[in-house]
Amino acid sequence: MVDWKVHTYASLPSTQDYVKELVEEGLEEGIVVQCLEQRSGRGRHGNTWFSPMGNLYMSILLRPKCDVKQAGQMSFVAAVALSAAMDEVVDTKQHTKTLKWPNDILIDGKKVSGILIEKEADGYALGMGVNIMNPPDQGVGLSQVSWEIQVAIHPFRDKVLEKLSYYYDLWQDKGFAEIRELWLSQAHGLGERIKARLAKGEKSGVFEGLSLEGALLLKQDDGEILDINAGEVYFS
Ligand code: BTN
Repeated sequence: MVDWKVHTYASLPSTQDYVKELVEEGLEEGIVVQCLEQRSGRGRHGNTWFSPMGNLYMSILLRPKCDVKQAGQMSFVAAVALSAAMDEVVDTKQHTKTLKWPNDILIDGKKVSGILIEKEADGYALGMGVNIMNPPDQGVGLSQVSWEIQVAIHPFRDKVLEKLSYYYDLWQDKGFAEIRELWLSQAHGLGERIKARLAKGEKSGVFEGLSLEGALLLKQDDGEILDINAGEVYFS
């Protein structure tokens, strides 16, 4: 079981950049860097991550025992853990939570959190941003969809770490199978037509599921199944 050591700062450029430096310096697994606002928060594909006060921003130093090819499975581990933590605060009778490949969480179709995993030297920085009180215009915050009057950031952070401990150990001890099943049971758009924007162009087809390793399986109109490991996926 990982022993989390949480360091909280008022403001940082990016928790992700901070943790990448700690990985490089050889620090141990389990360091968590959280801040109340980020001045240069980063998302995937070089996007900016909206990071005012009122939301959760944290990056976690991990050194999983797996080869680089399997490390992408960590984003499913993180999504399943975040989703389980959200189950304890989201009013799921009124709102629908789904997991969008590869690692976004949506509530009523709007993004509530994002995950960014980056390799540095021989370790990883797992970054999580969760909208709580101050979502961007196109997103949703947990406080808007909770039965609690206001979701408190630090208790929610601790719930996420508790769930991450459980699912990270499950993955490290038993492999990807159970994580894959849990993710698929909450998947957004499974069995529907999607468009995948890949480096080599756009592909469309039906979202058939996940491979045993975590690639998205796209059934094209000619019946051929394509394994997609990277790219932006649109549901149409
Ligand atoms: C995405 O594009 O969906 C991923 C967003 C990841 C944002 C988090 S917030 C904490 C950590 N620090 C950053 O600069 N980015 C990640």
